[in-house]
Amino acid sequence: MDIPWWRDAVVYEIYVRSFADASGDGVGDLAGVRQRLPYLKRLGVDAVWLTPFYPSPMADGGYDVADYRGVDPLFGSLDDFDDLVAEAHGLGLRVMVDVVPNHSSDQHPWFQAALRGEGRDRYIFRDTTNNWQSTFSGPAWTQAPDGQYYLHLFAPGQPDFNWRNPEVHEEFLDVLRFWLDRGVDGFRIDVAMGLYKAEGLPDVSDQSFKAASPVWGQPEVHGVYRDWRRLLDSYPGERMAVGEVWTDSLDDLALYVRPDELQQSFNFAWLQAPWSPTAFKQVIDDTLGAVPYATWVLSNHDVVRHRTRYGTADPGTGLARARAALLTTLALPGSAYLYQGEELGLPEVTDLPAEARQDPVFFQSEGKLPGRDGCRVPIPWTVDAPSYGFSPDSVEPWLPQPASFAELSVEKQEGDADSTLEFYRRALARRRELVEEIPYTLEWLDSPEGALFFTRGPLICAVNCGTHPVRLPDHDEVILASGPVKGGLLPADTAAWLRRAG
Ligand code: GLC
Repeated sequence: MDIPWWRDAVVYEIYVRSFADASGDGVGDLAGVRQRLPYLKRLGVDAVWLTPFYPSPMADGGYDVADYRGVDPLFGSLDDFDDLVAEAHGLGLRVMVDVVPNHSSDQHPWFQAALRGEGRDRYIFRDTTNNWQSTFSGPAWTQAPDGQYYLHLFAPGQPDFNWRNPEVHEEFLDVLRFWLDRGVDGFRIDVAMGLYKAEGLPDVSDQSFKAASPVWGQPEVHGVYRDWRRLLDSYPGERMAVGEVWTDSLDDLALYVRPDELQQSFNFAWLQAPWSPTAFKQVIDDTLGAVPYATWVLSNHDVVRHRTRYGTADPGTGLARARAALLTTLALPGSAYLYQGEELGLPEVTDLPAEARQDPVFFQSEGKLPGRDGCRVPIPWTVDAPSYGFSPDSVEPWLPQPASFAELSVEKQEGDADSTLEFYRRALARRRELVEEIPYTLEWLDSPEGALFFTRGPLICAVNCGTHPVRLPDHDEVILASGPVKGGLLPADTAAWLRRAG
């Protein structure tokens, strides 16, 4: 059987606003991404996923789309997009884009028409509200000028579509065709378990992402992905889709990953697991038992960066664990999604001043929740302030970067064998070779307390989450380690790839 390109792919998430600013307005853009494609090629990823760059009033950083078939001038033009795709493909990199089907911007022409009383059934308007809360805090309903309320599971500027209206289906199939015709290789589907809400919009007792909730994961949503899959399969070149599916169980996640539905879903259980061998083992077993094609992700633009998540009072521990987690992730069967900046070991920026913050989560929670800006701080390319090479000359980036970013910049790390960047490059290069010779399956080996050992054909991966060094299993060669491995011992907070003895 031919193995589809995405099965073992390493996909690099580009949060476009924060990756590289070519135009000099302090905001990242498509031309900036294009200029940095050789960096990504050299890093060793297979594909990039671009977060929304569509025309948007930016009520939620572009996840509030006003036109699904364009490029916001902040990010460039359709020509810039086409150039980016052509250049990426020329380098052998695939391109995935975000599609946001749960809601549009309140500036979308359909919503503007709805406010005027035309085509209101494309959204969810009611005379009275229910008790649903916005994911970003506060009520999920906002009153329109004529007195009716509309539903928004996120910001008030993100009205939810009514997927019980066939027009919405037609529109999104057409949007997908628009980008497929421009050559995209895949889609990341935003809030993929949203879309349908239970008939009658009953009150909820619990707002979390539960399979049985009237808010999320209604069975009708699978019909949408079956239609989308047929469309993807009608194009040449193994076009694919990965769902952003937050569920409480991996069995619920598996409902989205079926031969006639999505090829992949993000596996957030992996990033929610604490630094613990039992937690890791459980998620790995549950994942491989649940889905035919697994994905693994440690960080993205919505969560606290994993260096900080795994960290203790000592920031060095967080970095050591983050590096070990990467080796573990890259040794698992399936594809891995990386988030820009993790290859530099960037931490979460936790001390952004309130006046700099932009995430609607911060505003809707009236400052009670910090929001997600801390993982969206622009990438440091060079050691020079004010923007560390993110923007040209003396332009200030849209979010302030801490002074510590100089030391973490690409310029500083490039060529330094001990740096996290060079470690990522080595890991991705070795993985590329190994993937050719290892089976998709995984077997557990006996592991000392605090550690986890598993094997895939000739490869052994050993990770030590404990506090004391452990003895490595028998091996012929240490292929790569995330920290110092000496005398057959694997230190705490370290992982290693070994070639199996014999
Ligand atoms: C997804 C995105 C997040 C956005 C939300 C609403 O969770 O990843 O950034 O705020 O959807 O579109």
